[in-house]
This record gives sequence, C-alpha cells and structure tokens, in this order.
Amino acid sequence: MPATAPVAVTGAEGFIGSHLVEALVAAGHQVRAMVQYNSFSSYGWLESLSEEVMSHVDVVLGDVRDPGSVQGLVTGTEAVYHLAALIAIPYSYRAPHSYVETNVTGTLNVLEAVRHLGIPRLVHTSTSETYGTAQTVPISEDHPINTQSPYAASKAGGDRLADSYHASFGVPVVTLRPFNTFGPRQSMRAVIPTVIGQVAAGERVITLGDLRPTRDFSYVADTVAAFLAVGTAPADAVVGRTFNSGTGEEISIGDLVSLIGKLMDADLDVRSDQERVRPAGSEVMRLVCDSSRLRAATGWAPAHTLETGLAHTVDFFRDPNNLARYKAGIYNV
Ligand SMILES: NC(=O)c1ccc[n+]([C@@H]2O[C@H](COP(=O)([O-])OP(=O)(O)OC[C@H]3O[C@@H](n4cnc5c(N)ncnc54)[C@H](O)[C@@H]3O)[C@@H](O)[C@H]2O)c1
Repeated sequence: MPATAPVAVTGAEGFIGSHLVEALVAAGHQVRAMVQYNSFSSYGWLESLSEEVMSHVDVVLGDVRDPGSVQGLVTGTEAVYHLAALIAIPYSYRAPHSYVETNVTGTLNVLEAVRHLGIPRLVHTSTSETYGTAQTVPISEDHPINTQSPYAASKAGGDRLADSYHASFGVPVVTLRPFNTFGPRQSMRAVIPTVIGQVAAGERVITLGDLRPTRDFSYVADTVAAFLAVGTAPADAVVGRTFNSGTGEEISIGDLVSLIGKLMDADLDVRSDQERVRPAGSEVMRLVCDSSRLRAATGWAPAHTLETGLAHTVDFFRDPNNLARYKAGIYNV
C-alpha cells in the first residue's frame, strides 16, 4: 500500500543512499532526495536509476550544513534517513573542518529540523569506525567508542548529538551503525571497488595500503535492508537505540584481494604503497560485528555472502559504461 507522506533521504546521490532510494520506491514510497548542490547539476548515482524509479523521486538540491535547506527537505515527511556525510578517512586528515561541518553540524541541523517539525522517525547513520580497533570481538553496541581518525570522531560527534536529542527532547531517532559496506556504485576510495575496478580496467599490479587489517563486509542490499528495518520497526523496538549491522565474519584485506583475484580469474601482484598506509595509531586493525541486537529487534539478517556480493560487484565494474564513471588509474582520496 502506498505511503501517504513522502520519506526524505540525505546523501541520496551517494553509494548507499542511491540504493536506499531504490528500495524505498520499491516499498511504495515517494522519496524526497537531497542531492548536495553542485555547479554541474549532477544528481550523482540517482542519474543511473530508471525513469520509472525516478518518477517517484523528488530531487532537492541542498546542503546539510544549511539549516533552512534541511528544514525544506524534511517538512511533511513521515521519516528521514540521514546518510549525508564526508566519509573518506584519508581526506579527513587533510580537511577535518569540513568533516565537522558536515558530519557534526549537518547532523545537528537534521536533528533540529526533525525536532521542531515533529517528524515521526529519524534514522541517523553511524559507522563501525567509531569503535576503533576491536578490544573484544565480535563488537556489540556496548563496545567502547575509540575514534582513531577525524572521520570517526566527526561521526561519533553526530551519534552523541543524536543520543542527546532523544534524551533531552524525545526526538524519535534510531542510529544504524553499519560495518563496511560494498557493492555497485561504491567509490574507488574504498578497497573493494579499487581492486575490482583496477582489475576490470586491465591492471594486474594492485597498489594498496596495509594488507593486515580485518573488516566485516556487508553487501549493500543487506545494509539497505537494515536501514528499512530500523526505519519501519515499531517505535518501542528501536527508537532511542543504536544498532550494528554486519555479517559477523571478518577477512583481512590481503585475503580479500586474493579472493577477488580468484573470482576475476586474475593473477595479481599486490604492493603496499606508503602513501596509502595510515598513521599507525589511526589504522583500525580489526572490525567484526555482533548484530544480534538488530536481529532480535527487527528480524533483520543478511541475505548475501561475501562471494555472492563480490560477484554482483564484479559484474557492475566489468560493464564499460559503469567503469567509465571512475578514475581507476589514480589514488582516489
Ligand atoms: N560505505 C561504507 O562502508 C559505510 C560504512 C558505515 C557507515 N557508512 C555511512 O553511510 C553513509 C553513506 O556513505 P556512502 O558509503 O554511501 O558514501 P558516499 O560518499 O557515496 O555518500 C555520502 C553522500 O553524502 C553527500 N554529502 C556530503 N556532504 C554533503 C553536504 N554537506 N550536504 C548534503 N549532502 C552531502 C555526498 O554528496 C554523498 O552523496 C555515510 O553517513 C557513511 O558515514 C558507510
């Protein structure tokens, strides 16, 4: 049954946001999609969605750093999914102010708008990076927060504001904390698209940072399902709470690259480049997710294995039209 009021998404033109927009439309919603204002009038990945999907999407150019822009976006909506953020860790070493403005002040603007306009549900997006290197595994929501990069610190700042707006003003916010997510449309700043994209472009010498860290990788459809789960669950099951989403399986970057080489039938020469290695104290060495709270509250469970997700991602990057949207030959910060 079609929803009566639209839902709003920030970061809608990005990797996860564009998949979420598609899923919300498939679930019968009209979507108000914030795309960051830019001089190219680019709608990012929303430009790759079908006309049928886009007929249910109202694109709103704006900026989460601007309070009025956010108010206009969320007015009259039944739920807000706040994904807009600066996300690259290396770029957060170079431009930390912009991370605070976008990820902290931007989140504050969303919370204020949701509070004053009485929007019934806000899904705020956190990240597993806020935990830092695992002190205990798997990582549950009770694990200490240890922010090892300006990116992680800015995301944790947004999370704390979300918690405080629930405690102080009863804002109906639920925080989703996804572990690493991958799939079609992800930018080449992330390791999986970097490797698959370079191999698809014919490269066999693959340059990366540290190969030892482990990560818990979720296919994007599973992360999107987690967003929908917390966005639609009864309020008493989720509001005011934080939920991890992840598979519970970890793999080192080195083993991941070997697996991709096998899946793509490519003999890879993997080299570690000093420019890509993070400062020792900033590299998060181990992340593996305990998602039992999310499973218990909503019934969510991942539906893809790493191998099936990688196969979809390889298909995407092997399409020359998709690959042409990337700069596979450079270090994408
Ligand atoms: N990709 C992952 O592995 C992962 C894991 C955990 C959490 N997350 C979180 O998920 C969310 C989406 O990440 P993604 O991987 O899709 O990254 P992405 O960079 O593709 O998407 C982020 C989007 O936010 C937009 N944005 C940036 N600054 C903005 C501003 N000032 N105003 C409005 N929009 C702005 C960008 O244009 C971009 O489209 C982020 O909040 C990120 O922290 C991602």
